[in-house]
Amino acid sequence: MTTTPESNGKLPLTELGEMAARGERIVMITAYDYPSGRLADAAGVDMILVGDSAAMTVLGHSSTVPATMDEMLMLTRAVTRGAERPVIAADLPFGSYQVSDEDAVRNSIRFVKDGGADTVKLEGAGPSLSRAAAIVGAGIPVMGHLGLTPQSATMLGGFKAQGKTADKARRLLEDALALEAAGCFSLVLEAVPAPVAERVTAELAIPTIGIGSGAACDGQVLVLHDLLGLYGAFSPRFTKRYAEIGTEIQAALERFAGEVRSGAFPTEEHTYAMPAEELEAFLSSPTPRARTET
Ligand code: KIV
Repeated sequence: MTTTPESNGKLPLTELGEMAARGERIVMITAYDYPSGRLADAAGVDMILVGDSAAMTVLGHSSTVPATMDEMLMLTRAVTRGAERPVIAADLPFGSYQVSDEDAVRNSIRFVKDGGADTVKLEGAGPSLSRAAAIVGAGIPVMGHLGLTPQSATMLGGFKAQGKTADKARRLLEDALALEAAGCFSLVLEAVPAPVAERVTAELAIPTIGIGSGAACDGQVLVLHDLLGLYGAFSPRFTKRYAEIGTEIQAALERFAGEVRSGAFPTEEHTYAMPAEELEAFLSSPTPRARTET
């Protein structure tokens, strides 16, 4: 987990592969705004994903599909203002890379130039192989994503584990090798049986980052709002809650509302004083006429 003087405190991308080679686990978390980017950096995570899961966790949609480039760019900018050391990957949202390699390259460039991201992530293999190669050809590192790929959840029959038959697991391994050959620097494996993820990890030279795919992956990622207990709508089986921030936020808001209604807040310590003579002059001055000019 090193940075170099040339990297300005940013973890060099190549260090991720070296960490995996040394058997050091890579820690990745999603973040969607300035405070979560800043806190993830302060906690020492290696990678931040500005995930299109934001469509669900932040924007309240029922899937990741509605996320737009403009929304993802705004969130990416906020995260990159807050986080310096972690490698930051921006998720290419649905529709931003499916149509053509040109779209994929153009939108990836926007994430790097306007958003400040270091890398982008795309889902699937098939046409995504030529998209990944084109983006890498433009000089932008790409992360792949296989297994449960939420942008195509409808085609997959819902948010379900993938690669559960020998044929499907073999296909997943082929796709993983093809993404590596296309130039991806890393691969997310989502909701894949642990032994399948273990074999994929062993056969790839690039690091795998698992989510619901067992402990043999080179790193792990969780969705921030799942980890913090901030997203109530749906909790995948593979999520672990490390805090109940949602409950704490609600309790704090209820206390605030109660104190405003009872008059217990604000007290003198939350208000500003003024010199006694100024106050006296103000209180004794006649009521002025309402100003009409602007
Ligand atoms: O959008 C996202 O948060 C993701 C993670 C689940 C890997 O793609």
